[in-house]
Amino acid sequence: MFNMQGAIFDLDGVIVDTAKYHFLAWKRLAAELGFDFTQADNERLKGVSRMRSLDILLDVGRCAMNDEEKEVAASKKNAWYMEYLGTLKQSDMLPGALEYLNYLKKQGVRIALGSASKNAGFILEKLGIGGLFDAVIDGNAVSAAKPDPEVFLKAASALSLSPSVCTVFEDSLAGIQAAKAGGMKVVGIGSPELLPGADMYVSCLRAMHPSGV
Ligand code: BG6
Ligand code: MG
Repeated sequence: MFNMQGAIFDLDGVIVDTAKYHFLAWKRLAAELGFDFTQADNERLKGVSRMRSLDILLDVGRCAMNDEEKEVAASKKNAWYMEYLGTLKQSDMLPGALEYLNYLKKQGVRIALGSASKNAGFILEKLGIGGLFDAVIDGNAVSAAKPDPEVFLKAASALSLSPSVCTVFEDSLAGIQAAKAGGMKVVGIGSPELLPGADMYVSCLRAMHPSGV
């Protein structure tokens, strides 16, 4: 394995499967605007900021909105998304995620969250795992979205570690590009076909745990 003194985790799609709730909320907005939004369309939103996601959705539906209308639509989508997150609990974590976080902690590896989501704090609280992280850098703390490395560089800095001894865990192409641009190792959660550029690939964090829990 890499010289991993710090582990930086994306949230959505790495620690918890929230993509299905993002999808439901975006699909509901699209229905209100009068067009269909498919699972395949939703793939384009992974790792992408909320406002950029809205632009992609509007592009799919060939709709135009001014900035004010965009703010209203994004707020509406977020309210629905948060409503769907209402029942989220620790058992909704992706396979092996909790075990791997606990394992790394025991090994003395420092752990950070590096997520585009502005709801990260809320989600960590619902999952009851906020206390496992030495640093949390989320969509509220950055000005440049992935593939810009800002989120991961801030996470490494908050851990007081050089990027070269940090490994990022990511399920989006933009996130993998961000990690590489930041000079970190990156584990792709998914396939090399969909996520070119990572240093290694696993299907979920369970595969990272030495005992394969
Ligand atoms: C990323 C998700 O983690 O966060 C994206 O992969 C999402 O799909 C982005 O758009 C922003 O999330 P939020 O919770 O701030 O709307
Ligand atoms: Mg993700």
